[in-house]
Amino acid sequence: MLKKIVLIVSILMINGLYAVETDSTTGLIVDNGLGDIKENCTVCHTGRFIVVNGGDKKFWKQKINIMQKAYGLWKIEPEQEERMLNYLSKNYSQKVNVSIDE
Ligand code: HEC
Repeated sequence: MLKKIVLIVSILMINGLYAVETDSTTGLIVDNGLGDIKENCTVCHTGRFIVVNGGDKKFWKQKINIMQKAYGLWKIEPEQEERMLNYLSKNYSQKVNVSIDE
Protein backbone atom coordinates (compact mmCIF):
# COMPACT_ATOMS: atom_id res chain seq x y z
CA MET A 1 0.00 0.00 0.00
CA LEU A 2 2.69 2.46 1.04
CA LYS A 3 4.67 1.52 -2.04
CA LYS A 4 1.67 2.34 -4.19
CA ILE A 5 1.23 5.74 -2.58
CA VAL A 6 4.92 6.53 -2.99
CA LEU A 7 4.69 5.50 -6.63
CA ILE A 8 1.63 7.64 -7.29
CA VAL A 9 3.13 10.65 -5.54
CA SER A 10 6.36 10.29 -7.54
CA ILE A 11 4.46 10.07 -10.81
CA LEU A 12 2.53 13.22 -9.93
CA MET A 13 5.74 15.05 -9.05
CA ILE A 14 7.46 13.99 -12.26
CA ASN A 15 4.41 15.06 -14.25
CA GLY A 16 4.51 18.44 -12.57
CA LEU A 17 8.15 18.85 -13.49
CA TYR A 18 7.67 18.08 -17.12
CA ALA A 19 4.28 19.64 -17.75
CA VAL A 20 4.66 22.38 -20.33
CA GLU A 21 3.26 25.71 -19.38
CA THR A 22 1.30 27.51 -22.06
CA ASP A 23 0.66 31.20 -22.41
CA SER A 24 -2.94 32.16 -21.72
CA THR A 25 -3.34 34.65 -24.57
CA THR A 26 -1.61 32.79 -27.39
CA GLY A 27 -1.81 29.17 -26.25
CA LEU A 28 1.87 28.86 -27.10
CA ILE A 29 4.48 27.15 -24.94
CA VAL A 30 6.14 29.45 -22.44
CA ASP A 31 9.88 29.50 -23.17
CA ASN A 32 12.69 31.82 -24.12
CA GLY A 33 11.67 33.71 -27.25
CA LEU A 34 7.92 33.70 -26.68
CA GLY A 35 8.04 37.47 -26.11
CA ASP A 36 9.54 37.89 -29.58
CA ILE A 37 6.89 35.66 -31.11
CA LYS A 38 4.17 37.68 -29.42
CA GLU A 39 5.67 40.89 -30.77
CA ASN A 40 6.14 39.66 -34.33
CA CYS A 41 3.77 36.79 -35.06
CA THR A 42 0.64 36.63 -32.96
CA VAL A 43 -0.08 40.30 -33.58
CA CYS A 44 -1.48 39.21 -36.95
CA HIS A 45 -2.92 35.78 -36.31
CA THR A 46 -3.47 33.27 -33.56
CA GLY A 47 -0.77 30.92 -32.41
CA ARG A 48 -2.64 28.10 -34.13
CA PHE A 49 -0.66 28.53 -37.35
CA ILE A 50 2.46 27.85 -35.31
CA VAL A 51 1.02 24.95 -33.31
CA VAL A 52 -0.19 23.02 -36.36
CA ASN A 53 3.08 23.57 -38.21
CA GLY A 54 6.42 22.20 -37.22
CA GLY A 55 9.96 21.71 -38.34
CA ASP A 56 13.59 22.61 -37.87
CA LYS A 57 15.16 26.02 -38.01
CA LYS A 58 15.30 25.92 -41.81
CA PHE A 59 11.58 25.19 -41.96
CA TRP A 60 10.76 28.09 -39.66
CA LYS A 61 13.13 30.41 -41.48
CA GLN A 62 11.18 29.67 -44.66
CA LYS A 63 7.91 30.43 -42.90
CA ILE A 64 9.26 33.75 -41.67
CA ASN A 65 10.38 34.53 -45.23
CA ILE A 66 6.89 33.74 -46.51
CA MET A 67 5.40 36.02 -43.86
CA GLN A 68 7.72 38.79 -45.01
CA LYS A 69 7.28 38.29 -48.74
CA ALA A 70 3.57 37.67 -48.88
CA TYR A 71 1.89 38.93 -45.73
CA GLY A 72 3.67 42.08 -44.71
CA LEU A 73 5.82 40.92 -41.81
CA TRP A 74 8.37 43.66 -41.16
CA LYS A 75 12.16 43.32 -41.10
CA ILE A 76 13.43 41.56 -37.98
CA GLU A 77 16.80 42.06 -36.32
CA PRO A 78 19.05 38.99 -36.71
CA GLU A 79 19.36 38.35 -32.95
CA GLN A 80 15.61 38.49 -32.54
CA GLU A 81 15.07 36.22 -35.51
CA GLU A 82 17.59 33.78 -34.04
CA ARG A 83 15.68 33.73 -30.73
CA MET A 84 12.43 33.07 -32.58
CA LEU A 85 13.98 30.33 -34.71
CA ASN A 86 15.39 28.66 -31.60
CA TYR A 87 12.05 28.93 -29.85
CA LEU A 88 10.09 27.59 -32.82
CA SER A 89 12.40 24.71 -33.71
CA LYS A 90 12.69 23.66 -30.07
CA ASN A 91 9.02 23.81 -29.14
CA TYR A 92 7.38 23.26 -32.51
CA SER A 93 9.53 20.74 -34.30
CA GLN A 94 6.67 18.50 -35.40
CA LYS A 95 3.42 19.04 -37.17
CA VAL A 96 0.49 18.41 -34.84
CA ASN A 97 -3.18 17.92 -35.59
CA VAL A 98 -5.38 19.94 -33.32
CA SER A 99 -9.14 20.26 -33.30
CA ILE A 100 -10.56 23.38 -34.91
CA ASP A 101 -13.04 24.30 -32.18
CA GLU A 102 -11.04 26.65 -30.04
C1 HEC B 1 1.65 41.21 -40.97
C2 HEC B 1 0.86 40.07 -40.55
C3 HEC B 1 1.56 38.78 -40.21
C4 HEC B 1 2.62 38.61 -39.35
C5 HEC B 1 3.35 39.66 -38.54
C6 HEC B 1 2.88 37.17 -39.30
N1 HEC B 1 1.99 36.51 -40.11
FE1 HEC B 1 1.89 34.49 -40.34
N2 HEC B 1 0.31 34.73 -41.59
C7 HEC B 1 -0.24 35.95 -41.97
C8 HEC B 1 -1.33 35.70 -42.91
C9 HEC B 1 -2.21 36.77 -43.54
C10 HEC B 1 -1.39 34.30 -43.06
C11 HEC B 1 -2.32 33.51 -43.97
C12 HEC B 1 -3.62 33.29 -43.29
C13 HEC B 1 -4.48 32.39 -44.08
O1 HEC B 1 -3.97 31.59 -44.89
O2 HEC B 1 -5.68 32.47 -43.86
C14 HEC B 1 -0.36 33.73 -42.22
C15 HEC B 1 -0.12 32.37 -42.10
C16 HEC B 1 0.87 31.79 -41.34
C17 HEC B 1 1.17 30.37 -41.28
C18 HEC B 1 0.40 29.28 -42.00
C19 HEC B 1 0.66 29.30 -43.47
C20 HEC B 1 1.88 28.55 -43.83
O3 HEC B 1 2.54 28.95 -44.81
O4 HEC B 1 2.21 27.54 -43.20
C21 HEC B 1 2.24 30.22 -40.47
C22 HEC B 1 2.95 28.95 -40.09
C23 HEC B 1 2.60 31.54 -39.99
N3 HEC B 1 1.75 32.47 -40.53
C24 HEC B 1 3.63 31.78 -39.11
C25 HEC B 1 4.03 33.05 -38.72
C26 HEC B 1 5.16 33.30 -37.84
C27 HEC B 1 6.07 32.25 -37.22
C28 HEC B 1 5.22 34.65 -37.67
C29 HEC B 1 6.24 35.43 -36.87
C30 HEC B 1 7.59 35.32 -37.27
C31 HEC B 1 4.13 35.25 -38.46
N4 HEC B 1 3.44 34.23 -39.06
C32 HEC B 1 3.87 36.60 -38.53
C33 HEC B 1 0.14 37.19 -41.53
C34 HEC B 1 1.17 37.46 -40.67
